[in-house]
Amino acid sequence: MCGIVGYIGEQNCVPVLINGLKSLEYRGYDSAGVAVLSGDTIGIRKTKGKVDNLSNLLLNEPISGKAGIGHTRWATHGAPSDMNAHPHFSNDDKIAVVHNGIIENYQELKAELEKKGYVFQSETDTETIAHLIDDYYKQGHDILESVRKTLERIEGSYALGVLCTDYPDQLIAARKESPLIVGLGKGENFIASDIPAILNYTKKAYILDDKELALVKADSVSLYDIDGNEIKKEVYTYKWDVEAAQKSGYDHFMLKEIYEQPKVVRDNLAQRFSEDGKSIELDGIKLGRAELENINLIYIVACGTAYYAGLVGKYLLERMVGIPVNADVASEFRYKEPLIDEHTLVIVISQSGETADTHSALKLAKSKGSRVLGIVNAVGSSIARDADDVLYTLAGFEIAVASTKAFSAQVVAMYLITLHIAMELGRIDNDTFEEIKQAMDLLPKQINDILTKAVPKIRRFVNKYIGSKNVFYIGRGLDYVVCMEGSLKLKEIAYLHSEPYAAGELKHGPIALIEEATLVVGIVTQEALFDKTKSNIKEVKARGAKVLAIAMQGNRSIEEVADDVIYIPRTHWMLTSLLANIPQQLFAYYMALELGEDIDKPRNLAKSVTVE
Ligand code: F6R
Repeated sequence: MCGIVGYIGEQNCVPVLINGLKSLEYRGYDSAGVAVLSGDTIGIRKTKGKVDNLSNLLLNEPISGKAGIGHTRWATHGAPSDMNAHPHFSNDDKIAVVHNGIIENYQELKAELEKKGYVFQSETDTETIAHLIDDYYKQGHDILESVRKTLERIEGSYALGVLCTDYPDQLIAARKESPLIVGLGKGENFIASDIPAILNYTKKAYILDDKELALVKADSVSLYDIDGNEIKKEVYTYKWDVEAAQKSGYDHFMLKEIYEQPKVVRDNLAQRFSEDGKSIELDGIKLGRAELENINLIYIVACGTAYYAGLVGKYLLERMVGIPVNADVASEFRYKEPLIDEHTLVIVISQSGETADTHSALKLAKSKGSRVLGIVNAVGSSIARDADDVLYTLAGFEIAVASTKAFSAQVVAMYLITLHIAMELGRIDNDTFEEIKQAMDLLPKQINDILTKAVPKIRRFVNKYIGSKNVFYIGRGLDYVVCMEGSLKLKEIAYLHSEPYAAGELKHGPIALIEEATLVVGIVTQEALFDKTKSNIKEVKARGAKVLAIAMQGNRSIEEVADDVIYIPRTHWMLTSLLANIPQQLFAYYMALELGEDIDKPRNLAKSVTVE
């Protein structure tokens, strides 16, 4: 939801800002802009569309300077347009602002500022910030104090970058509920929504906390709390290298990330078993027998793909541990007065660690006395910092908007948590644990096998059904959850209407939509439910559907009812979701590719949903 970047140092900042914005496009790509200080003026270039449009604009109307801020937008207030693009600026063009977040009281502030004579040029909430800073500045405060006073007035969330012509040697940054880091270089410093934006220049950064400000100069960074007191923070060193934020020969980040899954799963498994392999170690999380016996309900909360990973966990925990598990999307959970207390373990799942609804759900759960376990990918993110315990998913950067490897890592986390709780509470014996562990050890190789063998088949299938407008995904139990994820992926990147259905539910309405050549993906990896789902596939076939089945090796009788079958290697029943999802990712990817869609940056979406 919008990305911001800023630079101050000896280089011309424009290439730094453009490179940074390109790496942040996963956060939004409705419009982009930069503000650059040169001499005693700020040059602003901004335009609707992706960062490439901005680069073209800069070729025709170049600017340069040694301090600047940039922004790539995911529109909330005001349509995507040149005028609504950031940076926004004061009426005298002395102050420029980029912002990620939402100012909830902007209408009151706008009315107040208009009465004072300020003229608004855009429909955005952000423009109020530029004028409010200007108002305080004109009252005689210095620029840092003007920003600080502005922050006291605004309600909502923000990551901000501010430039002022009277202070050419500094830029100001601040954050509340939207991520922001201050990157530390030699004779140059940066601000950014996320580390990929500045990874070419530095791996060291301050991670700002809520209501903190930074005064950033080329050779120093001073940090303040919202009351203006100077504060100290530890420097965080990121472990990722530049390669992690590049496509490395793949056509799309999504494809690269799909192919990274064997490694991601291997990394997660390698670090989570004790040396003797007989128990699970969850990053030092204290969820031992005593703590677990105090828990009578588990609540899993997340959004989108992360929620589906959570649903896998719900099925597994209920079946293997026997504790009731509720699961909700965070946007529902946070407004429903959930029945939770100190005997509830709330598990929140988030790749970015910044999803606004999930973060609010976490805070609500804590306020009710529940213990919150965060399953998070982004190190140091808001959810990671506010959860009582964190299990990192070790998936590395996920840049494509459509989540793939992060989902797999989240599912593995659910496997590990389920096994850990089941063992601690004595719900499974050592032999069962050993059997599942052995099956888990095979997963990276099995994913590799699927990636190698399934692609030609999937591409043939995609070519055959490229004209389809509706796709149904059907399955039962854990397979039904896999259907939800597969259907979401297809909607997101191929823009095809698709519906996931519990296979047994079809007859209760949706089967009316099946007609000649309707495409149906049938997931049939649960042995215990095989015959049931096979019958449901027969029912859609009888009504003219074309069926792609995803089944476990050995269950060849599925070929009697499906047009095409992708087989996944045999595995323990609790582990099938991870494998069955891989062909679905490829199916969505190649469908989108054949349709010519912008796979890494699907329309209307952003990777990190920091607004509710
Ligand atoms: C789908 C997708 C989204 C995210 C959801 C939650 O491919 O990526 O549905 O899963 O927005 O995001 P995080 O995990 O960052 O909280």
